[in-house]
Amino acid sequence: MDIFFHEKTKLFHLCNDRISYIIGILPNGEPGQFYFGKRVHDREDMSYLVNHEFRAMMVGTPDDETFSLEMNRREYPSFGTTDLRFPAFEVIPENGSHVSAFRYVSHKITEGKPKIAGLPAVYTEKDYEAKTLEIMLSDELTGVGISLFYSIMRDYPVITRNVVFANKGSEEVRIERCMSLSLDLPDHDYTWMQFSGAWGREKTPVEKKLEAGITAIGSLRGHSSANHNPFVILKRPNTDESAGEAIGVSLVYSGNFLTQAEVDTYGMLRVMTGIHPDRFSWRLKEGESFETPEALLVWTGSGLNDLSQSLHRLYRKRLSRGIWKEKERPILLNNWEATLMNFTEESVLKIAEKGKEAGVELFVLDDGWFGVRNDDFSGLGDWYVNKDKLPEGIAGLAKKIHDMGMKFGLWFEPEMVNPDSDLYRAHPDWVLASPDRERSLGRHQMVLDMTKDEVQEYLYERMHSIISEAGIDYVKWDMNRTISECYSIGRNASEQGMTYHRYILAVYRLYERLISDFPELLFESCSSGGSRYDAGMLYYAPQTWASDDTDAVERLKIQYGTSYGYPVSSMGAHVSECPNQQTGRICSVGTRGNVAFFGTFGYEMDLNKLTDDEFAEIKEQIVFMKEHRALIQGGDFYRLISPFEDNYCAWMVVSEDKSEALAAYYRILAEVNPGRRRVRLKGLDPDSLYRTDDGEFYGSELMNIGIEINEAPDVIKLPRGDFDSRVIHLEKISK
Ligand code: DGJ
Repeated sequence: MDIFFHEKTKLFHLCNDRISYIIGILPNGEPGQFYFGKRVHDREDMSYLVNHEFRAMMVGTPDDETFSLEMNRREYPSFGTTDLRFPAFEVIPENGSHVSAFRYVSHKITEGKPKIAGLPAVYTEKDYEAKTLEIMLSDELTGVGISLFYSIMRDYPVITRNVVFANKGSEEVRIERCMSLSLDLPDHDYTWMQFSGAWGREKTPVEKKLEAGITAIGSLRGHSSANHNPFVILKRPNTDESAGEAIGVSLVYSGNFLTQAEVDTYGMLRVMTGIHPDRFSWRLKEGESFETPEALLVWTGSGLNDLSQSLHRLYRKRLSRGIWKEKERPILLNNWEATLMNFTEESVLKIAEKGKEAGVELFVLDDGWFGVRNDDFSGLGDWYVNKDKLPEGIAGLAKKIHDMGMKFGLWFEPEMVNPDSDLYRAHPDWVLASPDRERSLGRHQMVLDMTKDEVQEYLYERMHSIISEAGIDYVKWDMNRTISECYSIGRNASEQGMTYHRYILAVYRLYERLISDFPELLFESCSSGGSRYDAGMLYYAPQTWASDDTDAVERLKIQYGTSYGYPVSSMGAHVSECPNQQTGRICSVGTRGNVAFFGTFGYEMDLNKLTDDEFAEIKEQIVFMKEHRALIQGGDFYRLISPFEDNYCAWMVVSEDKSEALAAYYRILAEVNPGRRRVRLKGLDPDSLYRTDDGEFYGSELMNIGIEINEAPDVIKLPRGDFDSRVIHLEKISK
């Protein structure tokens, strides 16, 4: 890994074993994008990549009309002058002009990777793991400076980027748009893959061939959202899971975002991601600076599985933090689907005791333990225990759970308040709301104005005191509504465009304070399931509740879709009761387990209601998971058959040293007298012999001949019926 700088030609080349990212200085003095992709040889002069030409209707620079920014590839494009494509940023001085002229002034190359104050970011543990290039630009007229940061990681085919604006001038300016990255590519022969959906059906891959014009996704909901995820893939038309070129673009941010691809009339492609410019306007006073969130570029020449695995490893090892990031996650039992809010200490202890008997390690008390909260119409915001339900308080219940030998976890939804709550009655101005207008409700609740110090302090004090008094081991941090009327009461008009971003900074701040007070606490983020499942959240909470849809068959799609961008170790997945509460589907406890194994496994049901046989099976599942979770949560994940395209789904994980693997396949609907079907495994050592329940096979056999996955009519290997599944353990027995 290195960053070469060629003084004479002012050429920067960031590279590691796999990728190169090359930046030159264009004739007008601003940085230009010369190359991003597979590693290329370093050289001093690449000025052949600068276009000089004269075309009809082209706007050129006054001293050289053959040079137009629109005909060139730029690193951080402004709007106006000679480029009228969508810009990456706009800095507006008091005279209202959108025109700027940011030119290269200097640069710095440093070992390691700097932190971004108050924002999540990929980090290094040792300086030699990354190098960082900072390119400083300045606009002479306003005195504003822009620093473009690029870090190249030694062990990942990844470039991280962010931007810092510094007002060194003598008047206030407004930042109206500040994308975290913009990447101009020379052609647009890509298929755009986004991950979209809604509550209960998160992260469905959607593909579009890029054509002239704009392709974009985003969120103006105040959270990254289940509607669109801030992660997209651009793949070449022939790229599949195991071969071909692709670029991943991920924004490490949990608020409003825009990810956009613009194909111009000459076929060039401009990709950008960052804070959504709508509803955003940041006042930058003299002497102040503003940092954008981080964005990641990941490149592969070896297919989508490889791209996903690079991100999985990066997120597990250098984005998630703390003691839990690579530790085996506790098998949990959550009472939500078992009791909803109707519980007493006695009833939850009964569920917990059965969990303990089954081998569960963490009992989680979900919504309903505070205020007057028997349904979702009241109580949110009143973070004081409900003594009618829990006479000995949270500390009393936690002690009983701890005495049983389990950890204890608790649900919070700090960002919200019900109008029917003591908190709202006392502080009606603590919510985001437009003055003198109706306040919309979502799930009968409003959003607290987290940007206010008094709100932050109230929540910090309440959470800190409950966590410390009761010795809580795990927190599920929920967020169950989208933000509407994003207005901060009491602040002046010119600051309202800062509210969405300030809100998410405040959420991050509260997380950060609790993490530093309780470094051993395990956080699981949740937003009605996966409505805030993004790389930003993984910096604070290494696991996310992937979806409120706990149906095993539906979960195949949700977990498969999620795996494109996020690791198995981050996916909250539980076995829930039958018929399933979201779909009414009946599915064996075996298949429910076989799906939930590929996540941070747990249960969400009253285990007392199971038959003896089912309970015995659950005990076996827990033994199985304890034995294999290090492999599942720390191994390399391979997608084998997509449930979006097939009646089957298959995936597998392989340990880093290839000594062990688990392959799973699922047949969704039963077929009568089915045709033959084999699946080829991946990632094994071709010349090693592996032991499986069905015999011993070389890795090369398993990966090329594959294994049979349908039920032959005369061999009853699998239970019959719909929603059938099997998990196969493979262990290397010889080289
Ligand atoms: C939404 C979450 O996704 C559920 O798991 C549960 O915690 C409920 N909120 C509680 O209100």
